[in-house]
Amino acid sequence: MQHCTFCAFIALWGIAALTSCARSADWRPPKLKDCVLHPQIESRIHKDVSFWGEPGISEDVALSVCAFCDVSQPDLKENCNKPQRVLIQNGTVYLNNLVASQYLGPFEHIGFLVELYEASQVYQLPDVEFVYWFGDNAPSYTMIKEESGDTAWPWQPPASGSSSSSSSSSSSSGKRQAVPAVMAWSKWDANSALVVPYSGAFRCSPDSWDSIEAQLEALASVNWTERIEVAFGRWNGFCTHYIPWMKTADGEVMKCPRTHLNSISQAHPDLIDAYDLSKGKPVPLAHQHKYKYIVSTDGWSISSKFDKYLLLGSAVLKAASTRYGFYYDALQPWTHFLPFMVNSSADIVDVVRWAKANDAAARAVAEAGRRFALRHLARPARLCYLHRLITQLATKMRYVPSCSRRQLCVPLVQELQFLAGYERTQKSCRYNEVLLRYGQDDPAAALPLSQFGAGAGAGAAAAGEAGQGGVYVTPPQRLEEIRRLHEGGNAWPRDDKAAEQPQAVGRRRRRRALQGQTRRGQTQQSLRGEEG
Ligand SMILES: *[C@@H]1O[C@H](CO)[C@@H](O)[C@H](O)[C@H]1NC(C)=O
Ligand SMILES: *[C@@H]1O[C@H](CO)[C@@H](O)[C@H](O)[C@H]1NC(C)=O
Ligand SMILES: *[C@@H]1O[C@H](CO)[C@@H](O)[C@H](O)[C@H]1NC(C)=O
Repeated sequence: MQHCTFCAFIALWGIAALTSCARSADWRPPKLKDCVLHPQIESRIHKDVSFWGEPGISEDVALSVCAFCDVSQPDLKENCNKPQRVLIQNGTVYLNNLVASQYLGPFEHIGFLVELYEASQVYQLPDVEFVYWFGDNAPSYTMIKEESGDTAWPWQPPASGSSSSSSSSSSSSGKRQAVPAVMAWSKWDANSALVVPYSGAFRCSPDSWDSIEAQLEALASVNWTERIEVAFGRWNGFCTHYIPWMKTADGEVMKCPRTHLNSISQAHPDLIDAYDLSKGKPVPLAHQHKYKYIVSTDGWSISSKFDKYLLLGSAVLKAASTRYGFYYDALQPWTHFLPFMVNSSADIVDVVRWAKANDAAARAVAEAGRRFALRHLARPARLCYLHRLITQLATKMRYVPSCSRRQLCVPLVQELQFLAGYERTQKSCRYNEVLLRYGQDDPAAALPLSQFGAGAGAGAAAAGEAGQGGVYVTPPQRLEEIRRLHEGGNAWPRDDKAAEQPQAVGRRRRRRALQGQTRRGQTQQSLRGEEG
């Protein structure tokens, strides 16, 4: 009798130990709630987000992005495929449109999705709604007009008199803040976009920033004294649209660095070897560290190579530009890089001469640049940036974003699974880094693609069911449905509507009028890069 009780005790203890073992075997740390950025990178976030001021972002403003996509019109069809709508609810990231399959592939789009997913798994993200724009430049509609401070966003908030909506702003025209949150990886001061890391170039390609970081030992093994005292640069020769808007300190219009440096290099072969690829032969990025000085110029907008050059251990020479990325505010000329095209379009010659004459100072710049990059551009810092930006943006939301009011709410983890298996996109990024690490214990992997009309909170709150072994599995037919939505090219619901409020009827009428207008083609201008 006693013996049996003892047995039972042992058996129970055994089961308890097993369960707790299973639990601890699958233990993962809770999501982080905070992190600290370089103060000037943090202040970039505050500057960008402060654009919306007290009025903040109301739901009809956020949804106004829907009015600029019309798959039945060639001009407006484009607009359905450069913006990626994102909604975050209770820590889960959802997509509210699916880009047409012929636009799928570029890592500018996919890299951000992968990095955002990782950020959502490492950090607790608040409820927000925004648009990620994956063109080279933030859309011209997000530009801020000099006189009024309004944006060029072609949508008017309801007039302040007839509506208590918080979208009516404090500015005289009532328009200033009536632009959704648009994230882009390159911006300038006259633009309301929120700047984010160029994640695709940071993590997707074989020569991504992350893979160059992984070669740090080899790069650092060529020591400073062994490097050739020549400023080296290679690129495709073209001139981006904003260069002619810029002037150097001598009052002259800035010359296009990518073509002008050909003739400067020809005149000073002992100092500079910076040619476009029609004139100089290509050298892989990871071999450029044999030069002491590396020349960086903008491409269509900021150069993703600049971020990588900082890792090489050479001093980076950077051409002046009005465009910046998420961390540029914290970078100091002559400390982290050597500036040129500041005083004149030919001042690079003086800068290289200075570097040769001040070798220790040039070396210090090379090392400070590399240290800066390793600290502030590495993946943990980028994930922290996304967390901080989204957390700040959440303070501007004047409604609670909910999948119950969006026709389509595709859990990001399912979109990544689809992209990882789809022919056009399977090589676009390294999906397994996040899917194998987080995908299987993400309840969102088992959620439906739409929770439209579900009671507020009930929808996304209902976590997916874990299957065998506590693993969340996306049914194959769900991935098939995602493919069909991409290939149909129509996965942009234009009828998403704001929460029903007392003025909802009026708002609906306005919305219908707006859509009608769009259909009739009066809003012909397409959402394009800001060169327009
Ligand atoms: C740098 O390289 C040179 C030439 O290979 C070598 O003589 C020197 O010892 C190296 N210096 C350091 C600090 O490794
Ligand atoms: C531009 O001129 C100023 C004043 O002479 C000088 O201090 C600075 O180093 C120059 N900058 C470049 C990039 O040549
Ligand atoms: C939010 O998510 C947490 C953890 O994922 C879950 O436990 C909780 O039930 C969810 N709450 C709501 C309101 O959806």
